[in-house]
Amino acid sequence: MAASPLKNTVFIKMKIFTDPKQIQQYVLAQRAAGKTIALIPTMGYLHRGHATLMEQARPTAEIVIVSIFVNPLQFGPREDLDIYPRDFEGDCRTCEQAGVDIIFSPRMSDIYPAGFQTEVSVAEITRGLCGAHRPGHFNGVTTVVAKLFNLTLPHKAFFGEKDYQQLATIRQMVNDLNFPIEIIGVPIVREADGLAMSSRNTYLSPSQRKAALSLSRGLFRAREAFKQGERQSSILQQTVRNTIQADADRSCQLEYLAVCDPETLVEIEQIEKVAVIALAARVGKTRLIDNILLP
Ligand code: PAJ
Repeated sequence: MAASPLKNTVFIKMKIFTDPKQIQQYVLAQRAAGKTIALIPTMGYLHRGHATLMEQARPTAEIVIVSIFVNPLQFGPREDLDIYPRDFEGDCRTCEQAGVDIIFSPRMSDIYPAGFQTEVSVAEITRGLCGAHRPGHFNGVTTVVAKLFNLTLPHKAFFGEKDYQQLATIRQMVNDLNFPIEIIGVPIVREADGLAMSSRNTYLSPSQRKAALSLSRGLFRAREAFKQGERQSSILQQTVRNTIQADADRSCQLEYLAVCDPETLVEIEQIEKVAVIALAARVGKTRLIDNILLP
């Protein structure tokens, strides 16, 4: 069997694969035996947001796979690849507790061997929002996710609405390239005080974390205004902006704030039925994203 348990740690039911060829052989055999497979792609340092994806996946498939791979292709040259937080043992425990069957944790050189030269690129939907500020980011995401799909051959794959543009981009790719995979979006999991859970929250100092709360607070206020009947994007945006700027030390700097069609991500001026308000902000050096779906 291709499993390679961690030193000093026994995961009784869970298999850990690192070799892409071995997991591909394994899932091919499982599919041939009629088993259904669900995949949750992650970059590790797993928190309750990730665990919620696993819990949602668990009852939908016979084999639940979590991939853990910090994908260098989706980080820009001045981004946090080198310091991205890692905790493989903790991640294994989180996965086991959520009833995951397989962790796939490949080495960088196995995913991008010397001579690798193919990229998957989704056009329109990746242009705005995060795409405008992180050149090449979504090509990195779609390339690695396409590879993970081919290596784990899932029937379903689970993605969080936290990374709303990522989810929309994956849906577009799956549609355009005819991957026979159902994409399931999972609502944002937040801390009790509203902060969207993220592996990057670990970078925040206590005062930065407090300042970061104004992001979700702003989005919640905009949702309140929407509930009261406000449909004009500029006014909803101003509500978010005012909340963020009301923060005493002004340590949250908005990178973008937009009201968009939830499917196409095209910006809209007036909301007919549904919309997503999406934002990115810097708190110190940490870049955070958040969004809210209306209604
Ligand atoms: P990562 O940031 O580790 O996130 C893995 C999955 O967990 C993504 O689908 C993300 O949207 C979801 N997620 C993270 N925080 C969440 C929260 N608070 N609530 C709900 N879902 C949440 O996203 C990536 O990794 C990578 O780009 C990846 C898709 C793995 C490709 O490398």
